[in-house]
Amino acid sequence: MPCVVEATKRHRSIRAYSGPVEEEHVNLIIEAARRAPTAWNLMPVSIQAVTDPSLLEKLGDAVGGQEHVRKAPLFLVFSIDYAKVVEASKASGVEPAEPGLGHVVAALVDAGIMVGWAGLAAEDLGYGVAFIAVYGNPCRVAEILGLPPLVVPVVGLAIGKPGEDPAPRPRQPLDSMLGLNGYGKSPEEKAQGVQAVYGQRAQRLFSIVTSREGYLAKLSSQILECLRSRGFKAP
Ligand SMILES: Cc1cc2nc3c(=O)[nH]c(=O)nc-3n(C[C@H](O)[C@H](O)[C@H](O)COP(=O)(O)O)c2cc1C
Repeated sequence: MPCVVEATKRHRSIRAYSGPVEEEHVNLIIEAARRAPTAWNLMPVSIQAVTDPSLLEKLGDAVGGQEHVRKAPLFLVFSIDYAKVVEASKASGVEPAEPGLGHVVAALVDAGIMVGWAGLAAEDLGYGVAFIAVYGNPCRVAEILGLPPLVVPVVGLAIGKPGEDPAPRPRQPLDSMLGLNGYGKSPEEKAQGVQAVYGQRAQRLFSIVTSREGYLAKLSSQILECLRSRGFKAP
């Protein structure tokens, strides 16, 4: 089996760390992110590498009090970054449009691929990683890191030597995800596979995440407000 597929099979989020990331490995992990493809090769993403304990403490608070962020030996923050792209456009003699939803979606996908490549590289080097939803409180994270307008943090990656050894967590069955030349099974049929992943935890999980008062419902207004305040054209 190709080694990258093997690497994905070994993945499980690690939320306790027993040691730091060696400096040469920090560079390799970031290089893996830097090599990721981006739409138009525009690279509208910036990465902040955070090791300062006082910043980590603040970042851990900003993402809802996550101890594994506070204690991470290395925390990479991936931001969509049109500040540098807009400046480059102006310097090239092209008056840029005010960045809007299209810009955000394009850069978000790029940042997602980048963080994934960084995560895989880190795991391949023997580290444990946890992806972190920075998009829940992006403006506070931007403030902590002193990021300029048109830069919005979206996802983080906590990295360190593994301090725990959890079993790989289950995934949806293939036919709840894959459709060959079309959607595949109906949403109702796929839902059975989705629910089966969580078992008795399904009701609790969905009430926290997908209910009318849940995490995702609250997210939209927070993200739109942050985008507007950082210079994006958002409804
Ligand atoms: C975009 C994204 C955001 C996430 N945010 C968090 C987070 O804020 N805190 C956390 O502990 N785990 C977070 N996770 C990790 C997921 O909870 C985890 O990947 C999922 O439960 C599956 O577990 P596994 O990674 O061990 O397979 C995030 C994962 C992704 C991809």
